[in-house]
Parts: sequence; C-alpha cells; structure tokens
Amino acid sequence: MHTTRADLASDAPATTVRLAGNEMPFGPLPGVVEAIAGAAADAHRYPDPASVGLREALARRCGVTADRIVTGCGSAALFAHLVASVGGEVVHSWRSFEAYPMLAAAAGGTSVPVPVTPEHRHDLPAMAAAIGPRTRLVVVCNPDNPTGTASGRAELDRFVARVPSDVLVVVDEAYREFVTDPDVPDALAAYGDRPNVVVLRTLSKAWGLAGLRLGYLIAHPEVAAAVGKVVIPFSTNAVAQAAGLAALDAEVEMARRVAVVVAERERVAGELADLVPDVPPSQGNFLWLPVGEAAEHVGRACAAEGVLVRAYAGEGVRMTIGTPAQNDRFLAALRHALRTGRRPLPA
Ligand SMILES: Cc1ncc(COP(=O)(O)O)c(C=O)c1O
Repeated sequence: MHTTRADLASDAPATTVRLAGNEMPFGPLPGVVEAIAGAAADAHRYPDPASVGLREALARRCGVTADRIVTGCGSAALFAHLVASVGGEVVHSWRSFEAYPMLAAAAGGTSVPVPVTPEHRHDLPAMAAAIGPRTRLVVVCNPDNPTGTASGRAELDRFVARVPSDVLVVVDEAYREFVTDPDVPDALAAYGDRPNVVVLRTLSKAWGLAGLRLGYLIAHPEVAAAVGKVVIPFSTNAVAQAAGLAALDAEVEMARRVAVVVAERERVAGELADLVPDVPPSQGNFLWLPVGEAAEHVGRACAAEGVLVRAYAGEGVRMTIGTPAQNDRFLAALRHALRTGRRPLPA
C-alpha cells in the first residue's frame, strides 16, 4: 500500500465534506450518467450549435417559445454575454454573487455595487436610485448568494416599475428551485412579459450538473438574439446538451432531492439559531453565517475538522446544505470552531 500525504497528516479526518460550492450532495440525477456516456461516444462530432433539442425542452418547461431561450457555458457565462451585448454600467447588490463584478469587467462593463441592508437583503430602492445614464443592466440575485435572502413580490414590483425600459433587469434565479416562500415570485411568471426583463437560470444547482457547465436565460426574443450574437459558437457542448435533456426528464427526482435539502436547510438553521446571531432566513441551498472578523477562523477550523465551507474574510461564512450526516459534521465542526475561536462573534 502506498503512503499518501493525507495518511501522513495523522490528525486529518478520514473523509472531507464539501459544503463550499452550493452543489447538490447526491450525485447526478437518474439517467444523466448514461446520457453522458452516450454523448461521449460521439465526442468526435461538433455539438448542435443552436442546442435546438435542449432549448425546446427548456422552452416547454418554462411555457415560452424557444426563440426566448439562450443556453450557455453556465449561467455565469451568460451573465457576461448579457453585459457584452449591452455594454456600460452594471448595478448589482453587494455582498452578492462575487462573479458579478468580475464578469462585468471581463465583458467590458463597469460595476456599481450597492450595499445590502443590515438584514443582508438587496436594497432595491437604493439599487433603483443607483441607475444612471450609463447604466445598461441591473441584476437582482433572487435568492441571493451568499446571504440566502430573497426579495418579495411587492418590493420587486416597485423596483421593476422604476427601472427605465432601456435598462435590462436581470433576475438571477440560480437557486429558484429551493424557494419555499410563496411571497418570492418566479420572475418569469411575474415579469416575463416585460421586454427588458431577463431571467437567468442554471442546471448547476438543483439539477446537479455543476461540472458540465450548463445555464440558460429567458428573455424577449430581441434580447435573446442580441445575446446569441456574442455567445462563443459551440459553447454549450454536446455532453452538456445530452445531460441537460436527461436531467430535465428526471424532474420528479430533482424535486424530491430539493425537498430533502430544504428540510435540512430549515433544520440546520434551527440549530444555528443557538450558535450564531442573526443568521438570515435562506431561500437557497445554503446558509449565511455573518460572523464578521471570525470568518477566516471558522473556515479554517471547519477545514481542520474535514468540513469545507466558504469563508468571506471579515464578513461571514457560507455553508452549503449537504446530506443530513454531512450537515451534522458541519454543526459539530462549527461548535468546535466557536469553542476555539480567539475573537468573539459580533453581538
Ligand atoms: C447567484 C448565482 N448565479 C450564478 C451562478 C453560476 O452558476 P453556473 O454554474 O450556471 O455558472 C452561481 C453559482 O454559484 C450563483 O450563485
């Protein structure tokens, strides 16, 4: 038997629990691995450049025509394509999904961050007020990553009504499938008839395809066509197209798994209430621990216990909901981290 570096670290935990990437913990959905194998046999062929079959399946699921759907190499790439298609300034909440400013810059735009409220929520009135003459796009992350908070129907109605018609409102619904609060609208159902509203979704999260890079957007046909012009040809690869179709066929199982995650989210949130002040209620598959200066200590201490979470220095820690056993490992690691913490948590 070979001795590995891990064996030599005598106090290293036997298994590592990955709760840092907002991924599903259960493996691919039924039928997906077989679809990937089938597509792999044709790996010498180019993919369908227009992803017709997949776009039609997504369109049927969303109740729209396929000319409103654009697929891409993850919804993150589609966000960059959206910025590239309109240029100018991007208004977004902050702290929010950290890729927004990076992708905006990569696509030639500039970003205007608008601080979250003390409750870790999007400040939609401030975001509307931040829209200026150079603004071309404003993004609402709903539910928000990493805070898990979500904007409700009435505040979104007011916000969408305030945004000028020549500014795109991009509602990033990467975590839509985990939403249980009936006040949090499905942006496509609520605002899909507005030509300047774009809904971003992904198969990386609830659908379990993070490694294959498959996202989609739903937009007015003219906006979709403009985005289509800046998408790199063939960027939705053949394996992702096949896997996406298979995943969509497994919707019942997807919903069952999401229900397990949501139940665990609520259980872990309940346990955290006694450990960390002010954990905001989450509508995603993760929880935000606003531990401030203790964030890096908590991240490192959990990692030392074999539990990988995402630490945002000086701000907080985001833990992704895993299986019940993984979540218990996290809670034990967190209790240990809090006992060994050098700095107190913010009151
Ligand atoms: C809010 C949000 N949007 C988009 C993405 C990117 O998803 P994709 O894997 O489809 O690029 C993530 C991934 O973490 C996310 O949290």
